[in-house]
Amino acid sequence: MAAAVSNPRVADAADTRAMPSGDRPVTPVTLVIVGASGDLTRRLLFPAVHRLIALGRIPVSTRIVGYAIDDWSTAAFLDHLRQGVADFGDGVDETAWAAISANTTYVAGDLDASKMAGLVPLVTGPAVIYLALPPALFGPAASALGACGLADESSGWRRLVIEKPFGIDSASAVALQTELTKQWNEGQLYRIDHFLGKDSVQNLMVFRLANRFVESVWNLNSVSQVQITAAETIGLEGRWRYYDKAGALRDMVQNHLMQLFAITAMEPPSVWEPEVLREHKVEVLRSVRRAAPADIGQSAVRGQYTAGVEAGLAVGASDAAPVVGYLEEENIAPTSTTETYAAVRLWVDNWRWQGVPFYLRSGKRMSGDVTEIALELRPPPTALFGAEPAPGNWIVLRLRPDETIEIHAVAKKAGLGLATEQIVLTATDQAAGGSEYSAYEQLILDALAGDRSMFIRGDEAAQAWAIVQPVIDAWSAGGVPAPYASGTDGPPAPNGFFTEGRQWRSIER
Ligand code: BG6
Repeated sequence: MAAAVSNPRVADAADTRAMPSGDRPVTPVTLVIVGASGDLTRRLLFPAVHRLIALGRIPVSTRIVGYAIDDWSTAAFLDHLRQGVADFGDGVDETAWAAISANTTYVAGDLDASKMAGLVPLVTGPAVIYLALPPALFGPAASALGACGLADESSGWRRLVIEKPFGIDSASAVALQTELTKQWNEGQLYRIDHFLGKDSVQNLMVFRLANRFVESVWNLNSVSQVQITAAETIGLEGRWRYYDKAGALRDMVQNHLMQLFAITAMEPPSVWEPEVLREHKVEVLRSVRRAAPADIGQSAVRGQYTAGVEAGLAVGASDAAPVVGYLEEENIAPTSTTETYAAVRLWVDNWRWQGVPFYLRSGKRMSGDVTEIALELRPPPTALFGAEPAPGNWIVLRLRPDETIEIHAVAKKAGLGLATEQIVLTATDQAAGGSEYSAYEQLILDALAGDRSMFIRGDEAAQAWAIVQPVIDAWSAGGVPAPYASGTDGPPAPNGFFTEGRQWRSIER
């Protein structure tokens, strides 16, 4: 069975949200990209801006200012952007491009306030300033922009956009927050976790909160466990400089998976307002039990991929593509203890979830590309039809490879007698063509509209760090990740990680 799930973000209501009338800029908005000559701008940010202009979702009058260290002319900058749109977007729209060319300026400079002051005459009204920079430069750039008056809102609102990671642990996250808020107030800060721009993640909130039958089982009375998975078949992909310092816990669990967790576990907000929503997410993050050092061995798992085959291809098959292990990847030291797989078990100490384990895992070079949130429901109190077939009742919200909502249930097998079988009721968003917008497009629109719902608040990032900090501490104190062959499902969970005979859901589909 397949049914189209309506997509609230492409309906009229979403249009209103993208540009609320009270916040509709009267003077053209300026989009300043700091770090504009880098990869993020070329691959993701600018193709998204171009598409939004081509679709008429942001005004053609939008002024674009690129700022970066490279000594480029505006014409050279435009060539660079155009190439990015051609390579990573869905083709150059010449009408949009004419407007972009007319409204774009490039300024060369470093992060010194005296150089950044060159931006001041170009940023006269409302502005979104996007820091497309390495995370270590967020603080210095925010301070320098503030020092030259660009955080001042007397001639129009000013918003500063940064993208995860927000720190590398609890202490650095606090230090970053202190630095950011020296010149900017929290309401001006838009912290991106691109998962929150995904249509399927937003549908998780709608599916959960717009259907009484769902919300009524969404608690400890009906749910026995929750498994949140982000498994990828890709490996390091040349990102050694960043990844070898980060590892799976910092790269995926502290942010993306923690966001999926927060949206799944939070209390329903009473109104759909950014601060109410964010407060509810912070509240549930605060309710997560902080793991004691002695428990980490049992409640967290780290792994590192070894040589194997590319997932999806059978071992030994003639077309199987062999891949190297993490330690043989280019520029990785043979002694690296960076984890490419991380799993944690969380307990939520509140009325809704007490005693329900939440299992979160993410890994590279796994056996499939699967991102999903799966809630297992408790069995019925009596087994009227004999043993219920495994794997029981699950509600699965899948983000990848397909955007689906599944309900796994037991039904009668057709034919004589009362034999039962497992059926899966599936609703797929792909039937409706998926989302009209990419995560970046959605988040850029939201930042322009001043809608902070899908951005991370400073205290939210801090709480997410506080949850993983005991794991960071334990892992940095020694030991090595468990090896797992590329193309498999990660290392086995230690004794005590799962209780009551539970195990990970299978990744290969
Ligand atoms: C990024 C991580 O934030 O998210 C990557 O740094 C990861 O390591 C990526 O591959 C996954 O995002 P998506 O949208 O492809 O699921």
